[in-house]
Amino acid sequence: MTEPRIGLIGLGTMGRALTLNIAENAEPLAVYNRTTERTHEFMAQTRASEPALAERILPAETLLEFVDSLSSPRAIIIMVDAGPAVDKVIADLRPLLNDEDLIIDAGNANFHDTNRRAAEAEQQGVPFIGMGVSGGEEGARHGPSIMGGGPKDHWDRVAGVLQAISAKYQGTPCATWMGTGGAGHFVKAVHNGIEYADMQMIAETYGIFRDGKRRDAAAIGAVFAKWNEGPLQSYLVEISGKVATATDPETGKPMLDIILDRAGQKGTGRWTVIEAQHLGAAIPVIEAAVLARNTSAQLDRRQRGEHVFGPAPAPLPHDTLADATLEGAMIAGKIMCYAQGFDLLAAASGHFGWRLPMPDVARVWREGCIIRSTMLNDMATALADSPDENLIFAPFFRALIEKHIPDLRETVAMAQMHGLAVPALSAALSWFDMMRTGRSTANMIQGQRDFFGAHGFERTDKDGKGFHGPWAMNG
Ligand code: 6PG
Repeated sequence: MTEPRIGLIGLGTMGRALTLNIAENAEPLAVYNRTTERTHEFMAQTRASEPALAERILPAETLLEFVDSLSSPRAIIIMVDAGPAVDKVIADLRPLLNDEDLIIDAGNANFHDTNRRAAEAEQQGVPFIGMGVSGGEEGARHGPSIMGGGPKDHWDRVAGVLQAISAKYQGTPCATWMGTGGAGHFVKAVHNGIEYADMQMIAETYGIFRDGKRRDAAAIGAVFAKWNEGPLQSYLVEISGKVATATDPETGKPMLDIILDRAGQKGTGRWTVIEAQHLGAAIPVIEAAVLARNTSAQLDRRQRGEHVFGPAPAPLPHDTLADATLEGAMIAGKIMCYAQGFDLLAAASGHFGWRLPMPDVARVWREGCIIRSTMLNDMATALADSPDENLIFAPFFRALIEKHIPDLRETVAMAQMHGLAVPALSAALSWFDMMRTGRSTANMIQGQRDFFGAHGFERTDKDGKGFHGPWAMNG
């Protein structure tokens, strides 16, 4: 093997998958893992299962041997747990590299960390790229969606390799440079926030079927499979259908009925919500999804609540909430969720000076990533036509909203009347109702603020700020 240019550190599930993908679809590479045993085990497995690929992977036992095995300029991909482990690897690597080389963090880093690492890289000389990679193990192995951030010239140097290993949407690679510093990891965080929201809206609809309509898991799976052939076509609807129809090999019962209703989270959805608050962007559907995961963790309290207050007054009357109504509600909810996600991206783009390429964000999500869906192609088109316009005003989505808002309204109203929790769907509806209310109720908020704190308000009949109400004079 000639000296490879690319190295990968971290042979966990994602690192292994990415290594095989690079070896197969791009070029030979060197690999290193802190625990040498794991490297040996990975190489032995690969030699047995994919001998031709094993020939293209050069294992190293020490970091020095690893760096020395690469030809300059090197590009080293780090695939270790987000957080201090990344800083440690960078600190160990930096003295062994020079300013021609490149370090790429491909984990799920918090974009603030990526911004910091990018700034440190500028001071200390070894260029750094923070890169969001989506698609789970399968994506990493056969084509993920890649959202890059950092110095554009260095991205350009490795773009060929990244595009070669990325998913393709009708031949177009899903690997795009989003901007400087932490831009790529920020876009990945918003992707994950949307992922949480898409998953939550599917889960809420599942709940309406299960508790409101008393349908069994396999029947619900069949509905999701059908929806996956229409406007809701997406990876998450597809796998939800498969999850719902699966049987537990141990008990023979529906797998879904055996899975405990306590959701995990690694934190990226929460980061998205925190950043939205910092930026003053409204992303209530994503917030509701994070809240629902947090609440799911309070299993004991929920069980006590059901014992004390009694279960929700489900089921729904037979003739309510047809399958098509629920499908329409999901379509409307999904549009609201993405409209909010892109608003957050626009707010961050301005605040951090990234000039995020909005249509390209939608394009890079069309294949490979967890939120891939047919609708993202229409979003890319809408954002290309009017990059600064909120998605709800794009003619294609406006028509869909007008058609399906009654479905969302009926779904949320009926679910709430019958005590079925639909936090994300109702957040979508309330946000839409706020967006279409030209005269909101914030005049009352302003009156209250002026009453207790003399904060001043604007008037509808005069220009200027700092007007006060009569309450001060009246004591
Ligand atoms: C992806 C996913 C992935 C994420 C997991 C777990 O795009 O491939 O977003 O990066 O880490 O899905 O996320 P949670 O544990 O937070 O659900």
